[in-house]
Amino acid sequence: MSKFGLNENLRKILDAPYPFDVVDGNKKKAEARFGRGFIIDFGIGDPTDPTPEVVRNACRRAVEETQNLGYPNVLGCGEFLSAVRHYMKKRFNVNLNQNEIIPTYGAKYTSFQLPSYFLNPNRGEVTLIPNPGYPPYSDGTTLAGGIPYYLNMLEENDFQPNFDSIPQQVLKKARILYLNSPHSPTGKIISKEKMREAVDLCKDNNILLVSDECYSDLYYEKKPMSIFEIKEAETCSIVLNSLSKRSMMTGYAVGFLASKNPNLLKPYTSIQRKSIQGVANIIQHAAAAAFMDEKHPEEMRKIYKQRRDALIPALEKIGCKVKKPEGTFFVWAKVPEKTTPLKFSEKLLLEKGINCVPGNLISKTQDKINPGERYVRFALVPSLEKTVEAVNRLK
Ligand SMILES: Cc1ncc(COP(=O)(O)O)c(C=O)c1O
Repeated sequence: MSKFGLNENLRKILDAPYPFDVVDGNKKKAEARFGRGFIIDFGIGDPTDPTPEVVRNACRRAVEETQNLGYPNVLGCGEFLSAVRHYMKKRFNVNLNQNEIIPTYGAKYTSFQLPSYFLNPNRGEVTLIPNPGYPPYSDGTTLAGGIPYYLNMLEENDFQPNFDSIPQQVLKKARILYLNSPHSPTGKIISKEKMREAVDLCKDNNILLVSDECYSDLYYEKKPMSIFEIKEAETCSIVLNSLSKRSMMTGYAVGFLASKNPNLLKPYTSIQRKSIQGVANIIQHAAAAAFMDEKHPEEMRKIYKQRRDALIPALEKIGCKVKKPEGTFFVWAKVPEKTTPLKFSEKLLLEKGINCVPGNLISKTQDKINPGERYVRFALVPSLEKTVEAVNRLK
């Protein structure tokens, strides 16, 4: 390896322990003990419900009607762009032009890439990142030679970022802020006031605001907003959206990036053109059908609510404290005082065949605080039947 030295920023990512190693190890033990079929897996947030028929049909039709796909245009096909425009208008009352939207391979890769377009490497430039938060925000920052600064999402702050706690010297170096509402994994819908605060912070300090709105259609009692509903956000923001969770399309890997500021879009389109080209047209057609359909997200909201409302009382009965999530399909549960997330999740898995993720493994330590050190995460992806079975096992 010495002959082919690795990029020093990449090494930082590769050398960090992979949080799921522990969970995977326990899962293997549990599978050996009970057999694979017995495990009820609330671990990874990959929806198990079928991709809607309307989506699969659109994809099938696109395959049949297109003799040769050719290289897809980075800027997207008309049907996709119209569907996103329609969706943004209907869902958020936001007007977007076609040239303000670009199809992406989903939000993971896009959020990983963005720091390398907007940070100068190895100059101490900072990305502000919710903690716990989606790992590509920080890994992408590290690979780009930037420094992640974590905004702890604590219960005492109602699981919202406290921008006042950011030290001045950090703020001076900050170039990007990631927001994620509804927030994974706490399920918190960031308030309108907090969104405004974020916009003001970004405008005052020349920070790019990246708003990850992948869960904006997975909510319970109240609807999350888009950052674009705040007029002042238009010049400083990029919105990321994805169909992975909304439409059970993780395997299709498709979403969009949108901005009203052409300078924020240009780097993305330009690098896509130079590297990977656009999203395949057949996938864009499937995505267009998904964005045009409001029925399936509505059904999924009901289904997730049933699962949430079945699981939480059972967790409370065994001593967990749970603030009902407002959105996403995650439950962020505080474990009983006398145990730790790791011990709790191990016990659940090895004694009951129920898998969840220790919160401390998916949170970073900032200012000596790991906001996940008392929590575990459940992804409500098993069916209601399996969720009820898990509830019975917990009794
Ligand atoms: C916060 C957040 N953003 C985005 C995504 C989805 O990314 P993708 O569109 O690449 O599946 C996830 C999935 O886990 C997520 O938790």
